[in-house]
Amino acid sequence: MNNEKKVILTGMQPTGFLHLGNFLGAANNWNKILDQYTCYFFIPNQHAITIPQVPANLRNATLNCVAQYIACGLDPNRCTIFVQSHIIGHTELTWVLSCLTPLGQLYRMHQFKDKSAKKENIYSGLLYYPVLMAADILLYNADFVPTGEDQRQHVELARDLAEKFNVTYSETFTIPSPLIETSGARIMSLKAPEHKMSKSDSDSNATIYITDEPKIIQKKIASAVTDSGDIIANDPKRPGIANLLNIYCAATGISMEEAEEKFSTYRSYAPFKKELADVLITLLEPVQEKYKSIKDDKEYLQSVIRKGTEMVQPIAYRTLSKVYRKVGFLDK
Ligand code: TYM
Repeated sequence: MNNEKKVILTGMQPTGFLHLGNFLGAANNWNKILDQYTCYFFIPNQHAITIPQVPANLRNATLNCVAQYIACGLDPNRCTIFVQSHIIGHTELTWVLSCLTPLGQLYRMHQFKDKSAKKENIYSGLLYYPVLMAADILLYNADFVPTGEDQRQHVELARDLAEKFNVTYSETFTIPSPLIETSGARIMSLKAPEHKMSKSDSDSNATIYITDEPKIIQKKIASAVTDSGDIIANDPKRPGIANLLNIYCAATGISMEEAEEKFSTYRSYAPFKKELADVLITLLEPVQEKYKSIKDDKEYLQSVIRKGTEMVQPIAYRTLSKVYRKVGFLDK
């Protein structure tokens, strides 16, 4: 019998504070699986430069992201946390995989279409972003990739590329599967609930950040867009209230049916919104406390990622040398 734990790998871009979508769709579930799997959580800073970044801000945000991971419950003694650019192998494997990736498949990626539609100058890094993500996953032979719904297509590309490499060069990579929660996987904007909640929203009231103070959370939820009705239900024709109800379910762990039943006697949105804000404040309180206690301890944060590098670099080298041998690169 194979007693080895399955491998989990995932990450969040260091492009600012994590928001409620990142938290409910991803981070809040990560700490529940630490002992069940071998867990690798990394900071994809090489992905972050696919859109322009201020170098000093990116450096700060990368270390700050480590603090946010730990604040969200990632215990560095029970999982490995590392920074993508510290490891030799991600970009090297990206190159090999890109030689197996049809351009058409990259042009069809939803996220590429969304992000490139808003830009005049489109750089090839944005197009190759999903190949880098496939390399992140395959380098460590991850079995499962926990993400929100928006990353499903990218994980599917990683599956396709693993299968293609295995067929072309012989069995090498584990075929990864996405791990996507039912509630929380798609948290929408509080101001335009037909769009997903995002860090880059120009309206700061559309997004709740995990570091938002209780008063701010109350204000943002109270001013969240709903409609002129008063029935609290998961009705796709009323995306505002449906989104708030979905947030409630993801934050409390109850099902949509239970939530609809619970609020079926309410005849106004205001008390429901107040209850939701209270739930979020309570949920985020320990995260904020932990974050405050470690965010300035740069030495500690650096030591966590140094340990991470020591742990994963040998794995990355092993995969890379196997891949290089299989594709026909001459040994050193
Ligand atoms: P990123 O940084 O955009 O988002 C981090 C995680 O948060 C989830 N998420 C959401 N979930 C629910 N509702 C939302 N509104 C919402 N917004 C974001 C994302 O699905 C993700 O799980 N490409 C990835 C980072 C990455 C990665 C990887 C992830 C790079 N390589 C390898 C897994 C494995 C990204 O940009 O996530």
